[in-house]
Amino acid sequence: MKVLQDRSLAPFHTFGIDVKAKQIVEAETADELASIWQSKCYQTVPKLIVGQGSNLLFCEEYSGLIVLNRIKGIDITETESSFHLHIGAGEDWHQLVKMTVEQGMPGLENLALIPGCVGSSPIQNIGAYGVELKDVCQYVDIIELETGLRQRLNADECEFGYRDSIFKHQLKNSHAIIAVGIELTKAWRPNTSYGPLAKFDPNTATASNIFDEVCSIRRSKLPDPALMGNAGSFFKNPIISAEQASRLISQYPTIPVYSQPNGKMKVAAGWLIDQCRLKGFQVGGARVHDQQALVLVNYHRASPGDIIALALHVIQTVESAFAITLEHEVRFMSSSDEILITELAQ
Ligand code: FAD
Ligand code: EPU
Repeated sequence: MKVLQDRSLAPFHTFGIDVKAKQIVEAETADELASIWQSKCYQTVPKLIVGQGSNLLFCEEYSGLIVLNRIKGIDITETESSFHLHIGAGEDWHQLVKMTVEQGMPGLENLALIPGCVGSSPIQNIGAYGVELKDVCQYVDIIELETGLRQRLNADECEFGYRDSIFKHQLKNSHAIIAVGIELTKAWRPNTSYGPLAKFDPNTATASNIFDEVCSIRRSKLPDPALMGNAGSFFKNPIISAEQASRLISQYPTIPVYSQPNGKMKVAAGWLIDQCRLKGFQVGGARVHDQQALVLVNYHRASPGDIIALALHVIQTVESAFAITLEHEVRFMSSSDEILITELAQ
């Protein structure tokens, strides 16, 4: 394994910010991953697994070892009722979606064009256009990094929630995801529940129709990280009580709110930020995206400090206007560990 020393992380995360890491290495197998964690020379060094860095903000130079997950391989088996896919954690998510749609295995089309690795998809239970990973995930294979012990979690054990799972909590840092099992039922029906997809007739729409439409909507709203650095939605859509939601609805009848299974309501954070007229607002090289207020972009050579200052301004402005505190979806990394913006603001 070739270890890169003192390299810029710019090509390894979608914000494209020029911060350095002390060391960077690729792991192509689960055994290679475990051997890094068990190696004496890295024992006291901070270590971070990175897929495509599309949900990460490096707040400063990373003082340890970045381990790029490059575990490949896709196995497909078929039963009378389903296709079963066993996918190496380092495979590209969008390429997987494209391949399944092209090969007549529908079910992932609503999740097209989400950047990142397959192995990262269960971590925040990726979701878009009415579908979440939990709807198709059968199991997640993990490895305990200190011991090399492998384990298979079924979907229930992953504790999937909105942008959440066990991998952000109990299993964070101690385990790595090495493969994901996906089941695609042959009794497929298109999911046209999300606003812009409602124009399709569910009786005639094909997976290709949905795939093409999702790609086209996403390209019109979301900045391409290859052209303008970003990490998708910077904040989560806040979940508030039904009482607070009805107060907001009476004050702002057009506010987009969505019912949650627990009786609570989800509010569109992009709408809240947009109402505060923050689209195009800039701190240094960081900017609130002009087409989608929920996305903060590296507009021109932004520093981590620019993005953090902009995020704090957005949080404070929305809080003053709506008494709602936004939480960041993007994972912040300090020089050695994950950190929250609230800790940085202290
Ligand atoms: P990374 O950013 O590399 O890592 C994310 C976290 O997971 C880090 O904490 C990392 O340490 C950890 N990690 C990575 N791999 C492993 C592993 N194998 N084992 C254990 N821990 C690991 N998300 C959505 O849900 N829906 C969307 O519609 C969406 N749209 C986006 C659009 C754009 C333009 C961008 C840039 C991002 C978008 N995202 C979206 C966010 C992002 O695509 C997802 O969170 C994606 O799953 C991250 O994958 P990654 O490989 O880049 O993870
Ligand atoms: N809106 C505005 N102004 C804006 C942005 C949004 O008024 O600047 C309004 C829209 O008009 C719409 C509502 O807010 O009524 C929701 O907007 P959109 O459909 O674009 O979705 P979102 O809530 O902003 C969420 C996810 C996205 C996912 C899309 C599609 C979160 C945090 N974000 O965005 O996921 O792709 O829905 O399902 O849940 C990500 O997680 O990185 C991500 C991009």
